[in-house]
Amino acid sequence: MKALIASGGHGTRLRPLTHTQNKHLIPIANKPILHYAIEAAVDAGIKQIGIIHNADSKEVPNAIGNGKRWGVKITFIPQKTPAGLAHVVKIAEKFIGKDNFIFYLGDNMVVGGVKRFIDEFEKSDCNCWLTLSRVKDPERFGVPVIKNNKIIKVEEKPSKPKSQFAVAGIYIYDRHIFEAVKKIKPSARGEYEISDAHTYLIEHGYKVGYSEITGWWKDTGKPADLLEANRLVLDNIEPNIKGDTDKISSVLGKVILEEGSKVVNSVIRGPAIIGKNAVIENSYIGPFTSIGNNTIIQNAEVEYSIVLRDSKIMNVKLRIEGSILGNDVEIVEANGKPHVHRFMIGDQSRVEVA
Ligand code: G1P
Repeated sequence: MKALIASGGHGTRLRPLTHTQNKHLIPIANKPILHYAIEAAVDAGIKQIGIIHNADSKEVPNAIGNGKRWGVKITFIPQKTPAGLAHVVKIAEKFIGKDNFIFYLGDNMVVGGVKRFIDEFEKSDCNCWLTLSRVKDPERFGVPVIKNNKIIKVEEKPSKPKSQFAVAGIYIYDRHIFEAVKKIKPSARGEYEISDAHTYLIEHGYKVGYSEITGWWKDTGKPADLLEANRLVLDNIEPNIKGDTDKISSVLGKVILEEGSKVVNSVIRGPAIIGKNAVIENSYIGPFTSIGNNTIIQNAEVEYSIVLRDSKIMNVKLRIEGSILGNDVEIVEANGKPHVHRFMIGDQSRVEVA
């Protein structure tokens, strides 16, 4: 069993964060999203991982490396133009060879890993194994049409979904998927859809089985999904205090203080993570908040938010909530008169003021 992880695309729904960084490298609980996919494959005992990345950028290969730190071999496969997930599979044929493989979309997160799905696939005589998750908005996803407990078709982002399930971005295949991805035609939006490859397999007599994901699963495509994934990961952390806290501060609940971090005259109410060399001073950090490395929070309150590295939040009167701040961002008090809001914000940013 090999693993193929997708990390291409432009992440348009996560702009402006994705103007300067690949969406798969945005940290959730201070760890790049892509690490969760790699670790899921590693935990399932997989030793050879292929990662598809945008051919015009070395960002992902540079950030991830050759896999040595996880004890696996990572092969990078460049994709020249994003042409859909079935195209991603197609260009990986040489890497996969005749092996079975798990195809994992690098922006998906699932609790409990993927070994259980691989085990079920291996116990079955299926050519393809899908994972389904019950969602409120199936029209955002690939949706299975199920009859007598069998998937008879998969529809991509249907306006009238025929079930409450999303096909999650965790698929297991044998070599027959390569026939399917070569035979299908581009969809109306011009992409080679993975859902069409699944329907092709079903219509050509191949066996497609499935498991329901009963725990949580997230496709981190939109900003609200990132906050939700951050909440779910922080909810499961083990507390670990490597930073310094003064006597008048209180650090409550599940909190990770990474090396070199400092908490001064502040309250941190977990679950929360404070990154390396970050400083929290005269401030409140509320539940489900990740503070990146070297970030400084002074005279401010932050809750249910993701603040990336090297940022500053200083002397802000109203609590910051439900927010995502990129790298090297500053939110500071406007000095002098008149008393104003003053913004210097890049393209496609969003600010909500009281
Ligand atoms: C893709 C697939 C879709 C699947 C989803 C899972 O959608 O096309 O079938 O349900 O991933 O995350 P996308 O995230 O590219 O919109």
